[in-house]
Amino acid sequence: MTSNEIKLADNTITTDELENLSKWVTSNPQLTKGDLTLEFERIFADYIGSQYAIYVNSGSSANLLMIYSLLESGRLRNKQAIVPAVSWITTLSPLVQLGFTPHLCESDSETLGVDLNHFEQLCKEHRPAVAIIVHVLGHPNKMKELVSICQKYDVLLLEDACEALGTVQDYNKLGNFGVAGSFSFYYGHHISTIEGGMVTSNDNELYNIMLSIRSHGWSRDVEGYYKVSWAKEHNIDPVRELYTFYYPGFNLRSTDLNAFLGISQMQKIDEIAERREQNFIQYQSRLAKRFYCQTSRFDKLSSFAFGTFVSNRLEVYKHLKANKIEIRPLICGSLGKQPFWVKKYGETSLPVADIVHEFGIYLPNHLGIDEHQIDFICDKFLEVAQPMFPYKAELAKQNQSHTSKAII
Ligand SMILES: Cc1ncc(COP(=O)(O)O)c(C=O)c1O
Repeated sequence: MTSNEIKLADNTITTDELENLSKWVTSNPQLTKGDLTLEFERIFADYIGSQYAIYVNSGSSANLLMIYSLLESGRLRNKQAIVPAVSWITTLSPLVQLGFTPHLCESDSETLGVDLNHFEQLCKEHRPAVAIIVHVLGHPNKMKELVSICQKYDVLLLEDACEALGTVQDYNKLGNFGVAGSFSFYYGHHISTIEGGMVTSNDNELYNIMLSIRSHGWSRDVEGYYKVSWAKEHNIDPVRELYTFYYPGFNLRSTDLNAFLGISQMQKIDEIAERREQNFIQYQSRLAKRFYCQTSRFDKLSSFAFGTFVSNRLEVYKHLKANKIEIRPLICGSLGKQPFWVKKYGETSLPVADIVHEFGIYLPNHLGIDEHQIDFICDKFLEVAQPMFPYKAELAKQNQSHTSKAII
């Protein structure tokens, strides 16, 4: 038992790391656009197993950068896009802001990623050029099947892996299956740079477009080949080049100060992923007999949190809060039920995603939580929680029976 508050997420940056940072800062280094950003990107790309990584100032910026860069690359045959109903607002919002038509995809009852039948149905109906998926609470989607559907319908796949740093499926890290993948280093994610995010990719051209769009649309940061050929194409001399903009870009950069933290955080990512997996297993062993538990195929599960469904969510929330345990709804629930969506597109019903919306919660999981605290959380949870029952049969039925009413 514990009398202290059990936070949903905790800071991964230690006092030692902050002391090292302050020593470094006072040595008068270059604080932005310096070597540490490049070093962090290299370490991160090596960890994911991707060729490239681009450091940005948030996971949301990472999503915006990969979607907008793909659009600017001229590779999208249309602006139809698939997005999981259960995702995060900034997985979707760049698509809305950039004038795409988003189609919400139903959730798979096991992984809470995309339901493959519905995904394929959306591909057939809308022939989307692009899909972005989310690995919900760190659990991988059914990637082999998904990648093959994307190949069949010529859909470019983006992965929002902001909740899944370190999860491995089929010997490949999440974020490395599609054209590009995004990560968040916000406080409470697997690693933190205070705020921050990363895009990974194995696509050289897209990487260079992203480097340009991250920084105003200029060519200063891109590789030599692109710098020269863009200048040649537009007949730009070296002075003019300093302020030449090839894309209507953003400034999505972070700083070397944050990269300093990122480099140091990466030293403990394996320990973090391991702890998070063990925590998940402990929750599973205490709760999964009576309550819903995500199941997915993985070699390593860098779990974000323990997600489940309860029929009395408000009561559970109040009881856990009274016992100083912080919980949240299961991420955004269904985007199809969020006020902005209802206002813009009308309410969208998707049976499984709607269950997540109404009954989903998630329980704390992070590096700083110990076995006794997880036991305490489970004890308190079990005192009041009512399963969303019979959840297994209900979810299976929902996944089989959903129809095209899912379409906006
Ligand atoms: C799936 C997902 N995508 C994107 C984000 C956005 O990341 P950030 O808070 O770094 O902007 C989050 C944040 O929690 C997330 O869970």
